[in-house]
This record gives sequence, structure tokens and C-alpha cells, in this order.
Amino acid sequence: HLTCPKLACEPLSNPHLNCTKKDRLPQEAQRTWLRIVALGVSLALVTFLLWSSAGIDDDVAEVVAHRGEVLEGRFIEVPCSEDYDGHRRFEGCTPRKCGRGVTDIVITREEAEQIRRIAEKGLSLGGSDGGASILDLHSGALSVGKHFVNLYRYFGDKIQTIFSEEDFQLYRDIRQKVQLTIAEAFGIRASLLYLTKPTFFSRINSTEAQTAHDEYWHAHVDKVTYGSFDYTSLLYLSDYLEDFGGGRFVFMEEGSNKTVEPRAGRVSFFTSGSENLHRVEKVLWGTRYAITIAFTCNPDHGIEDPVLT
Ligand SMILES: *[C@@H]1O[C@H](CO)[C@@H](O)[C@H](O)[C@H]1NC(C)=O
Ligand SMILES: *[C@@H]1O[C@H](CO)[C@@H](O)[C@H](O)[C@H]1NC(C)=O
Repeated sequence: HLTCPKLACEPLSNPHLNCTKKDRLPQEAQRTWLRIVALGVSLALVTFLLWSSAGIDDDVAEVVAHRGEVLEGRFIEVPCSEDYDGHRRFEGCTPRKCGRGVTDIVITREEAEQIRRIAEKGLSLGGSDGGASILDLHSGALSVGKHFVNLYRYFGDKIQTIFSEEDFQLYRDIRQKVQLTIAEAFGIRASLLYLTKPTFFSRINSTEAQTAHDEYWHAHVDKVTYGSFDYTSLLYLSDYLEDFGGGRFVFMEEGSNKTVEPRAGRVSFFTSGSENLHRVEKVLWGTRYAITIAFTCNPDHGIEDPVLT
């Protein structure tokens, strides 16, 4: 670049010197300088903000779904793990697109309350000595003390005095809605998904664990625990901080965990492989109700909807 010598631009020193074009250069250089300084300051500011927020993330996970939010649908794609390679692949169903989603508009809060009453009825017949009880309407398994009983075998025909056909119809409707939601989010056909076991209600309170069955809080991968799982979903039936404290769901990731705060009617769903390592925080007070609804792509691992017989 040519620079205009300062003296040469003084009109008085040489009025004939045509320096009009050249004498803009120092002004332009000044503006360039200002821009560089402004850029430097902004960069420093951004760096500081990123640094300070990263510092906060060290101990506070990012909340992807707050209890007070009503999410139409939030979907986060994550790369699939290799867990699916160890199993038979079902094209058009076995995850090629992996990730996690949350929606509050698929199941209404009224439906959540109705289905919670089914859970309450069933679980009131038993309950673990520890803090975590389950009721599986498919197999009939119910936590009692330190074990499980089969509700259907135990009650026989009398089961119809406990649950109604409407209860079971609601359960099936909800399963169907969740199945459609998962299929849409992952771009697969809902008819290729099969309900699989275990699919169950859970009731958790703050009582200390008595057996390994009560230890729900360990980080785990669903597909490692239950080989048949391809897609896992959770329907929450109570509200975080209204009905219970602790008990939030956490996707564990290097650098920053991602938390889903339970809310009645909230459906959280995700591919079941290691890309979605997760845990549930210990419940600190109150009672937390949820349903785990699992799907497989392998028809051999499919189970039927429960029916009242
Ligand atoms: C938690 O539930 C169990 C039954 O599963 C019950 O025995 C216990 O009293 C409950 N604990 C609290 C703190 O409510
Ligand atoms: C994620 O959660 C785990 C288990 O609660 C914890 O040990 C880890 O420090 C958390 N990571 C971050 C980045 O917060």
C-alpha cells in the first residue's frame, strides 16, 4: 500500500499537490483501527462470557426441559453409538438417527392424572420396603416388600374389581400416542415398533434402598441393561418440586449433563444405546410417579398390550 506522507498533504506547504484522494487514507486507517479495537474488545467479552458459563456448567447441568415449560416438542440429535451393531438390524426401524426428545403436548395433564390413579390403585396393593416400587400391567409384576408378586395370579378374576376396562383402554391409548411420537421424531414407521418388556409404572419416594431393585439412581444404558430396547420413553405422572424433590432425569455427557425435569404429562423419549447414558437423581422428598414404555424393532421381542381378562 502507498501511504501519503503527512507533509505532502498539507495544502499550505504545497497547494499544487493533488492529495485529495490520498489524504483520505489516514482517516480510513483510523476507522480500520477503531474496528480492530472494537473487534478485540468484543472477542475479549465473548471469551470471558464463554469462560464464565463453562465454569458454571462444571457443577450445574443444563436443563433441557424445565418443569414450568410447556414444550411442543424439543429434539436433540446425537450420533448413534455402536450398540445396535451387536444386534440384528431391522432396516427402517433400528436407529440410524439417534437422539432425545421431550414433548408436553402429546399427553394431557388430565390423561396423566387418570393414568396416575391406575398406578396408585395397583401400587397400593403392594410396595417395596425400599424407596422404589414397580407395577407391570403386562406381566402382572408388583413390588411387595423385598420381592415381586404376580398380581394376576394373586387376584385371579378379582383383578376386575381393582382395574376397569377403561383403565386398560387409557393405557393402550397412551402407549399408541407415545409410539406415534417416537416414530415421527426418528423418521420411522410406527408399525415397525413393538412394545417390549419391561414396560412398567414406577413409584419412588425417599425411603432408603433395601435391595438392588431399589437402586434406580445408577447411571446406565438401557440397551445394555435390556438388549431388546431400541427406543425408550418415559411418561411423567407427577411434577418436580410440586410432588417431589430430587428425582430429575439426567443425560450424562462429557462436559455438560442434560437434565429433564419431570412434569405430569411430559413425555421424554430417546434411543436406548450408549449415546443416551443416563441416571435419575435420588428422590429427596415426596413421591414420584412415572411410566417407562419401551419399544423394540425386533418382532420376536414384542409384547402385547395388557388386557383385562
Ligand atoms: C415409601 O414407600 C414405602 C412403600 O413402598 C413406604 O413403606 C414408606 O413409608 C414410604 N416412605 C415415605 C418417606 O413416605
Ligand atoms: C454429570 O453427572 C455426574 C453424576 O451425577 C457427575 O459425576 C458429573 O460431574 C456431572 N458432569 C458435569 C459436567 O456436570
